[in-house]
Amino acid sequence: MCGIVGVIGRANAAECLVDGLKRLEYRGYDSAGIATLVNGQIERRRAPGKIANLAAKVQAEPIGGTVGIGHTRWATHGVPTESNAHPHSNGRVAVVHNGIIENFQELRSELERKGHTFSSDTDTEVVVHLVTEYLDQGFKAEEAVFQALRRLDGAFALAIMIAARPDMLVGARKGPPMAVGYGKGEMYIGSDALALAPMTNRISYLEDGDWVIITPEGAVVRNQTGQQVERKIIKSSVTGALAGKGEYRHFMLKEIYEQPQALGDTLRTHYNPAAQSITLAEMPFDLKDIDRVTAVACGTAYYACLVAKYWIEMIAKVPVDVDVGSEFRYREPPLSKKGLGLFVSQSGETADTLVPLRYCKTQGQRILSVVNVPESTIARESDAILPTLAGPEIGVASTKAFTTQLMALACLAISFGKARGTIDSAAEARLSSALLTVPSRVADVLHLDASIRLIAEELAEARDVLYLGRGSSYPIALEGALKLKEISYIHAEGYAAGELKHGPIALIDEKVPVVVIAPSDFLFDKSLSNIEQVIARGGRVILISDEQGIKRAGRLASHSICMPTVDPFVVPIIATIPVQLLAYHTAVLRGTDVDQPRNLAKSVTVE
Ligand code: AGP
Repeated sequence: MCGIVGVIGRANAAECLVDGLKRLEYRGYDSAGIATLVNGQIERRRAPGKIANLAAKVQAEPIGGTVGIGHTRWATHGVPTESNAHPHSNGRVAVVHNGIIENFQELRSELERKGHTFSSDTDTEVVVHLVTEYLDQGFKAEEAVFQALRRLDGAFALAIMIAARPDMLVGARKGPPMAVGYGKGEMYIGSDALALAPMTNRISYLEDGDWVIITPEGAVVRNQTGQQVERKIIKSSVTGALAGKGEYRHFMLKEIYEQPQALGDTLRTHYNPAAQSITLAEMPFDLKDIDRVTAVACGTAYYACLVAKYWIEMIAKVPVDVDVGSEFRYREPPLSKKGLGLFVSQSGETADTLVPLRYCKTQGQRILSVVNVPESTIARESDAILPTLAGPEIGVASTKAFTTQLMALACLAISFGKARGTIDSAAEARLSSALLTVPSRVADVLHLDASIRLIAEELAEARDVLYLGRGSSYPIALEGALKLKEISYIHAEGYAAGELKHGPIALIDEKVPVVVIAPSDFLFDKSLSNIEQVIARGGRVILISDEQGIKRAGRLASHSICMPTVDPFVVPIIATIPVQLLAYHTAVLRGTDVDQPRNLAKSVTVE
């Protein structure tokens, strides 16, 4: 959503803040800014757009100081102009903020009545004036902050700097994450360990309601009642190296090509080659006792849950309910007493996924999450996690995180079937051997990159695109449409192919390319009739199939992408690669910002 960072006791605070923000840019990049304290004065540098714009400004107009705060913004209130860029300050108090303050209008009116003058349209600025108000009422700095925090409704992570107190910074968390970094004679606060990794790997995480006073000597954490609490300091595994693009033009392409490695790493966590079996890490519950699964996620991660539904129901014969977090959190459905809550999230910080997790906990569900950040909030609030070993995913559009989520979920489905006795060891060996072929089959599809780039030229001219799939390929049709939408800005829709005749077929004409994902499985004949329906109406089909499927239907398609023939179990993972590459090359042809598409953020930590 947004990224915040704070440092104290650091000689070159400004440079350190900009460096930390570069590691947080994936959280939002509408504007960025820093503020430091120089001889009791708050000095600010802010710029619209990306961190590079801020870095240039700081280089052109350097600022000193050994204490400061920084912010990279994904706009929620106020258009992304410099005046709305964080840090917000009135000269006495400076604040950076991630999240949404829900009662900011009421607070702003109250403060304006007390004579405070606002200079931005943001919700954040009320914190500046609220802390100032309590300082003016005579509260000590720490107490003034505490009183202000108690007035705020909503979800927020804050870093606060007070001009009169160069010896301290305050951090606060109510919803979006906040980490505290421990250095030697220097201390840090930030949205996550990635931002602090270049300075330290000694990290503790604030819990909801916590606020922290950091000084160069250390940190004092208090909870929402003001009582001092201890938060464990861990050695973070997050690396400081800001993954470069290497020889790739974009992070997204690099991460697409990292998938064979990431998939192999993720499988290896659970696969026993000698026994050709899958063994998940110890969990504090037994899968055999589970009689229903509730899977909740957002965006691409939600599509991973849809694929998992097919797998778990087919292999373990356990019913799986799937919903997007933003709907589930307000439905609060009745749940089985012997139910499993399954949460999938690359960042592990998505608010629309975290709130349903907490609801499921209140309903006595066992909580299992599939995350790419083992130290994330969702991971820490789960009973057990299945890690995706994708490594940091910098491109905002999820690629390797998605396919490794599928790999982890496929391992879960096999373990589920084993635990419930719905598959025998021969079936387990077949399914796990199919998973073992995935990394090299994905590498085979990556060799089709050049031909897929040529097909993208057709998509790049389109205004609307349809993606069709059946069975476990249907969620991949949805994912393909989302990939195209979010990075090329072309309107695209994914549909269950059988639904075409119930309405969407009205869209078909020669201007609407239709991407059909149709492996030569038991549903192929049905997909073939869909292709014929499209052709009969002058539509153009881009067929993603295998050798047998293309032999039967390739003549009808304007383009075909021939995937390797694989066990039907793993088709969803393999079929993902062509739709990723189609979206990528289409976006490049349209000249959009592939790694940081407009209006998007990598991790949405507010609702
Ligand atoms: C993926 O391409 C999107 N950027 C987005 O839908 C993402 O999958 C969604 O926001 C969920 O994020 P999470 O996996 O970090 O929870």
